[in-house]
Amino acid sequence: MGDHDLDTDTMRTLRFHHYGEPADVLALETVPVPIPGPGAIRVVVRACGLAPADWALCRGLLPGQLPRGVGCDVSGTVDAVGDDVTDIAVGDLVFGTTDWANQPSAGASGRAIMDRWFAVPEGLDPTQAAALPMALSTAYWHLARLGLDRDKTILVHGAGTTVGFAAVQIALIRGMRVLATSGGTYATQLEDLGATVTAYGDGLVDRVQGISGGRVDMVLDTAPVSGALPELIQIADGDPKRVLTISDFAAAAQLGARDTFHEDPAAWTETERFGFFPEFAQLAAKGKFAIPIAGTFPLEDWRRALEVSLGGHAHGKLVLLPTDG
Ligand SMILES: NC(=O)c1ccc[n+]([C@@H]2O[C@H](COP(=O)([O-])OP(=O)(O)OC[C@H]3O[C@@H](n4cnc5c(N)ncnc54)[C@H](OP(=O)(O)O)[C@@H]3O)[C@@H](O)[C@H]2O)c1
Repeated sequence: MGDHDLDTDTMRTLRFHHYGEPADVLALETVPVPIPGPGAIRVVVRACGLAPADWALCRGLLPGQLPRGVGCDVSGTVDAVGDDVTDIAVGDLVFGTTDWANQPSAGASGRAIMDRWFAVPEGLDPTQAAALPMALSTAYWHLARLGLDRDKTILVHGAGTTVGFAAVQIALIRGMRVLATSGGTYATQLEDLGATVTAYGDGLVDRVQGISGGRVDMVLDTAPVSGALPELIQIADGDPKRVLTISDFAAAAQLGARDTFHEDPAAWTETERFGFFPEFAQLAAKGKFAIPIAGTFPLEDWRRALEVSLGGHAHGKLVLLPTDG
C-alpha cells in the first residue's frame, strides 16, 4: 500500500484551512484518522472522484467550519462503523459520498467518513464506482425535475462533461429521444449509445434544429462555461421554463430559465435523491452505464489532477488513488 498509514492512527489528507484558489490553499497533511459518529462509516479509500465542485468549495461555496477536505465521492473498504449502522459490515466494499461538510478531511485521504453508501456490485471496478456519485446524482436529479418522460425529446448541452455524459445515458435508458452537444472526444461514443450529436459553439441553434427534426421538449445545460443559455432557450421554442441549467446561474436569473438552486433539492425525499443508485451501480457493473475516466493519480500527484481539471477539458473523471500501489 502506498499510503503507509493503515496500521497507524494517522493518515494523509488533502485539505484547506482558508478559502482561496485551490492551488494556493490545498495542502497534503498528516492528520489523525477520523472516527465515524452515529449513522456514519469509515472506509479505507480505494478511489476518490474529483469534480469542479471540489474547487468551488475551496473558493468558499457553501462555507462552513475549517479545515475541510476535498473529495466528495469515494469507493472504499469499510474499516469502522458508527452506532446505528446495521446495513454494512467491516470489510464490505462500498461507494458513495463523504461527509465533507462536517469533517476536517474528506475523500482525498487515506481514510474517509461517509454519510451515504451503497454496495459496489460484483463486476464494478472501485475506480469506476468512485466516478459515479456526483455525475449520476446531479444528472438524475435534474432530469427528474425536467421530467423523465418516455418518448419526449431532450437536448443535453455539454454532454462531454461527466454530468452531461451521465444525463445522456439516463435519458436513453428511460426511453427518451436524446440530442446532445459535445466536443470531439466523446461524440462518437455518445452516438453509439443512441444520442444524436452535434458540436457546441457558434451556430448552435441551426445545428440543433438540423438534427432535431421537430420539437425539442426540454434542454438540460451541463456545460461548464456560461454563454449558451439564450440559444438554448431559442431551441426550446423561446420558453425558458423548458431549460434547466446546472452551471449558468447568473444568465438563468436574467433570462428566466430554471437552475439548480431554484429547484428546492432540500425538499426532495431520500428516495428521490438516491433511490436510483443501486439500479445504476448494477447497470455499471454490467457495462451498461459508465462515467468516462480521464486519468488516475496517486494522492501526492493531486496538483496534476487539479491542473487538468482547471484546464476546462478534462474529458472525463479525474480520480485519486490514495492507497494504490
Ligand atoms: N448544480 C449542480 O448541482 C452541479 C453538480 C455538479 C457539477 N456542476 C457543474 O456542472 C458542470 C459540469 O460538471 P462536470 O464535473 O461534469 O464537468 P467536467 O466533466 O469537468 O467538464 C469538463 C468538460 O466540459 C466540456 N466543455 C468544455 N468547454 C465546453 C463548452 N464551451 N461547452 C460545452 N462543453 C464544454 C469538455 O468536454 P468536450 O469539450 O470534449 O465536450 C470537458 O471535458 C460544471 O460547471 C460543474 O461546476 C453543477
